[in-house]
Amino acid sequence: MPKFQQHIFVCSNQRSAGHPRGCCDAAGADQLRAALKAELKRRNLTPLVRANQSGCLDQCEYGPALVIYPQAIWYGHVQLEDVPRIVEQTIVQGKILEDLRIPDELLNTKGGKVKFADSDCNVCDSDLSSPSEKNE
Ligand code: FES
Repeated sequence: MPKFQQHIFVCSNQRSAGHPRGCCDAAGADQLRAALKAELKRRNLTPLVRANQSGCLDQCEYGPALVIYPQAIWYGHVQLEDVPRIVEQTIVQGKILEDLRIPDELLNTKGGKVKFADSDCNVCDSDLSSPSEKNE
């Protein structure tokens, strides 16, 4: 079997209601990944392009979030209606959808409020995480 050309990792993490960081798949329905899989299949892009379920990608404030590799294109606030243009424009044509892109400077900043590696940070991962979280 040939190697995969692109992987789309779709966050399907669930957290309890009221968690300060929210989550990408509160309903647990995995609809976004299912829609991407269906669109990839419809376009005959499988098996070389694959949409995988992912745990938390640590971009929760921009969720629903996904990342496309090997290009490392991060998209946030992705809705089901975005799926056809993600597949056509990004996967097929290689274009970045700027309205969905999470800017590099916001990645791993927990919503732009806290720098990921900031030693002065007083809100660390352990403060925000719930022991019942899955996929973390
Ligand atoms: S819950 Fe989806 S990125 Fe964290």
